[in-house]
Amino acid sequence: MAKQNWQDLGPAEEFKNHKVSEAHIARTKLAITYQDGKFGAIHNGCNHVGGPLGQGRLDGEYVVCPWHNWKFHCRSGVGEPGFEEDAVPAYKVEVRTGRLFVDLESATPRKKKPHAPHPLSRPVKREDGTIRVAGISTTVMDRKNPRYSTSEALLEVALNHAKSSLGCGTRLIRLDELRFRNCEGYYSKSAHACTWPCSITQMDESDELTRVYEALVHWADVVIVATPIRWGVASSLYFKMVERLNCVQNQTTIRNRVLIRNKVAAFIITGGQDNVQGVAGQLLGFFAELGFHSPQFPYIAHSRGWSAEDMERNVQHVMNSEELREGARQLVERSVEFSKTLLGGGPGPERTARGGRKAHSLEIAAGPGTSRPASRPAGG
Ligand code: FES
Repeated sequence: MAKQNWQDLGPAEEFKNHKVSEAHIARTKLAITYQDGKFGAIHNGCNHVGGPLGQGRLDGEYVVCPWHNWKFHCRSGVGEPGFEEDAVPAYKVEVRTGRLFVDLESATPRKKKPHAPHPLSRPVKREDGTIRVAGISTTVMDRKNPRYSTSEALLEVALNHAKSSLGCGTRLIRLDELRFRNCEGYYSKSAHACTWPCSITQMDESDELTRVYEALVHWADVVIVATPIRWGVASSLYFKMVERLNCVQNQTTIRNRVLIRNKVAAFIITGGQDNVQGVAGQLLGFFAELGFHSPQFPYIAHSRGWSAEDMERNVQHVMNSEELREGARQLVERSVEFSKTLLGGGPGPERTARGGRKAHSLEIAAGPGTSRPASRPAGG
């Protein structure tokens, strides 16, 4: 007779109150289901990146993972139609005298269908060649009826200079020409649900933010972000992009895996009114947290000021200013020079100390008489 290990999960009536619930027994986490008078038990850990199936929901007879919606049959553990090669362990369950029992020895094998890795997930390795400059315009515009964008115009000046005078490879990405979804808050479910590549990118082939990820993580040595000022902050498209870039920063937080190394970020900020410094602070803070370096004097800007409600003159100023054009050329020159310095200094450290950084818990004794834990390696 096959070995058995029946464990008491508790009163069956309690499990009947929820179609899907979690149970922990002898270091095993289970997703328990109850539907149409039948119980089911499968392992709680999703095959994808370990989402808690017991916190999911039922779609017919399939448990839907709460993180990215993979589905497994509630009693057999087999993946949904088309994905039967994926399976999580399933267990026998019985109700005995009003209590729910599970046989931990009855676990079926976990099976993982090989999933082709997303191209973005390849190791980050700088390809040889000339310095590469990516410009990202965050301006929102009706491209069929274009207007003059001051920030985008100066970005084009910088990129043209990088290409024609500095011999760099260049790419201009206009965010409003890309179709990409808003961040849907996977991080808010769990830090580990926010994956690299981005969960949306992996699930939705039509999502075009891939171009930004490719440029920032794999291709570019220098990134120049151009934004207008809108009510004292950067453009809405800038923030839409930044929310989706959480997955890049989150790799540092949850794995100490720094995707951005030896790269330079600089900024072009223009607006009819003020708060240049506030906008620059946000841009600098975020890109620094991604791992970018900044050249000396890392942004150029132009603003007419609070009292000047005459945007047409603001546009004229930028259109006609050779000084601002020269500023844009010098900004990219500083950035490219700094990039050469960084790249000439070797690949940089493999590991980066986390102490004092975002989401790093400190090893501090709780109070008098509490022993201090032994030190642990940074990251993992
Ligand atoms: S679908 Fe379950 S962890 Fe991603």
